[in-house]
Amino acid sequence: MGWSLQAAQSLSAQQFEQWNGLLEERTGMHLRRVQQSHLQTQLLMRMRELNCSSFDDYYQIVRAVGGSEWGVFVNRITVNETRFFRHLESFGFVQRTIVEKYKKASASLNIWSVGCATGEEPYSLAMLFEEAAESHGGNVSYTIDATDISAKAIAIAKLGEYPHDALVDVKPTLREKYFQTRGDMLKVIDGVKKPIRFHCENILDLAHKPIEKMDIIFCQNLLIYFQEWRKKSILDALVEQLKPGGILIIGPGEVMTWKNIFVTPCRENGVQAYQRIQTT
Ligand SMILES: C[S@@+](CC[C@H](N)C(=O)[O-])C[C@H]1O[C@@H](n2cnc3c(N)ncnc32)[C@H](O)[C@@H]1O
Repeated sequence: MGWSLQAAQSLSAQQFEQWNGLLEERTGMHLRRVQQSHLQTQLLMRMRELNCSSFDDYYQIVRAVGGSEWGVFVNRITVNETRFFRHLESFGFVQRTIVEKYKKASASLNIWSVGCATGEEPYSLAMLFEEAAESHGGNVSYTIDATDISAKAIAIAKLGEYPHDALVDVKPTLREKYFQTRGDMLKVIDGVKKPIRFHCENILDLAHKPIEKMDIIFCQNLLIYFQEWRKKSILDALVEQLKPGGILIIGPGEVMTWKNIFVTPCRENGVQAYQRIQTT
């Protein structure tokens, strides 16, 4: 059957559950009913490109183990919306934390931006570190691991080029110091890029993988796509990745009832952050 005859087809409730089940099993993301039309639009657009006329046929292609279509589907279905210094209170909190570390002694700090989308979040964090180094000196080095499941988002992040209006929330002094004009775009300078390692990674895999222990884990607007039980299990896994004294920052209100005996909540207005206890 040709594409035009299929164009008006709708996902049935059962098909929606099937797609949602696959997405949740592999990424943790759980679509709500209101997102059915978004899923359907994305599927139909891609099916048209492939000249594939049925949701069920396309489902078989996407779920094929080792097939490349899974990545295409993930790129289309993830919401990569982000901004520089998106939640100002959280960045203010990170800045105070960093300054304390810079004041103390020499150190090597590991930071992780989880669900970094197109890079604005890790670049914002790197600018805070550069600023702290300039005003407080000290022998401090830092590395930022920035991860996201979307290969397309990570490719944009690695490039580090943004349209001028993407920088409205960046202070003019920072814009001048840390960006260069490249055609119509503003490009992050190498000094800010260098400490960041971008990887395309699924948080569900990382949660089981030992990586370097972190001083700061910044995880905002990722858990909102997950069901409550999964949010808590991811947070428990992130706590495992913190150094003693390390800090986990999530978006305010993203998880309401989570508790973990290895962390204490930080008392900061408008910020939801937890510090790993010093002795383990
Ligand atoms: C709305 S963006 C948030 C970006 C940034 N953290 C911020 O707060 O502005 C959510 C990001 O989480 C990513 N994401 C969703 N599920 C993921 C998973 N299982 N593993 C890693 N990243 C995931 C998406 O690709 C998307 O880029």
